[in-house]
Order: sequence, then structure tokens, then C-alpha cells
Amino acid sequence: MSQTQTPLDSGFGAASTAMEAIAGIDPTGKTALVTGGSSGMGLEITCALVSAGAKVVVPARNLEKARAALIAIEHVELVPLDLMDPASIKSLADSFPASHRSLDILINNAGTMLNPLTRDSRGYESQLSTNHPGHFELAVRLWPALGEG
Ligand SMILES: NC(=O)c1ccc[n+]([C@@H]2O[C@H](COP(=O)([O-])OP(=O)(O)OC[C@H]3O[C@@H](n4cnc5c(N)ncnc54)[C@H](OP(=O)(O)O)[C@@H]3O)[C@@H](O)[C@H]2O)c1
Repeated sequence: MSQTQTPLDSGFGAASTAMEAIAGIDPTGKTALVTGGSSGMGLEITCALVSAGAKVVVPARNLEKARAALIAIEHVELVPLDLMDPASIKSLADSFPASHRSLDILINNAGTMLNPLTRDSRGYESQLSTNHPGHFELAVRLWPALGEG
């Protein structure tokens, strides 16, 4: 452990599962949005939330790939989103209130790491762009919907 990190004492560790994390929480009837929710850890989060009763909105930049990954899971809605593209983030956030009553849970899970050097249209490096400003802008733009739950 480095000097800059201290344990959260959450009770969870590297071997904890999404189902263990959600135990005791009832998201029945809630709407969740899970970025990157069609692969890896995000897919586990989507499955756990759906099995506990939530409806899950999964944004994806490749809808066909995401649809194939989620084909067996009910109560999931796919929407287009590229976190490196501010116009894409704005489009999702602007259309959200028209299609959903509110947003109860926002899980900013999507991300990349150790990519070959590429940049978004603003010149931001892709890992930074996706993981940080992309999610920050998404959260800020969805804030009004989060407040209505
Ligand atoms: N797995 C680990 O051990 C680990 C450890 C530490 C941190 N993390 C972090 O945890 C997060 C999830 O990890 P993971 O292993 O589950 O990763 P993963 O399987 O590679 O999934 C990442 C997800 O993020 C999506 N994504 C990437 N760039 C995007 C963009 N510009 N716009 C929209 N979606 C985008 C991907 O979509 P596509 O399918 O289109 O690529 C994919 O669905 C990442 O941020 C990762 O860095 C993971």
C-alpha cells in the first residue's frame, strides 16, 4: 500500500462479486445507466442490477457488438454513446428525459488504459478523454435527471 492510499474498509475486496456488492440493496423499479455495461466488469454490473429488479440503460459506441453481448438479458436498453465525443454525450443527455422518468443510478464504469496514442477532436489523449472529461461531462449533463428520482 502506498502512502497516498488508505483502505476504504468497505468490506469488499478483489474477489468480491457484483452480486455481493448489491446484496441488501433493492433497485426494483429503478433506472440505472452503466457506461461500458456490455463487457467486462460493466456487464457483471448490468447483470447484477437486472437480476435485482432494475432497468438498465447501457450506452455503447458499437451498438451491434453490445447487442450481441446483451442478447440474453432482459430489461436492458441500448443507447449510442462515445465518451470521447462531446456531441455524443450531449445527444444522450438531451434525449434522456424524454425517454425516461428519471435516472436513479449512474455507474461511470467504461474506460480504456494503455492505448496507442490517439486523441479526440479537442486534442485530449484518448484514455484521459474517455475516463475523465467524458464521464464528468456525462454526469453533469445527466445531473437534472438524477435529481428527479
Ligand atoms: N478489469 C480490471 O482488472 C480493471 C482494473 C482496474 C481498473 N479497471 C477499469 O475499470 C473499467 C472497466 O474495466 P473492464 O476490464 O471491464 O474493461 P473492458 O472489458 O475493456 O470494458 C470497457 C468498456 O468501456 C467501453 N468504452 C471504452 N471507451 C469508450 C468510449 N470512448 N465511449 C464509450 N464506451 C467506451 C468499452 O466499449 P467497447 O466495447 O466499444 O470497447 C467497454 O464496453 C475500465 O475503466 C478499466 O480501466 C479495470
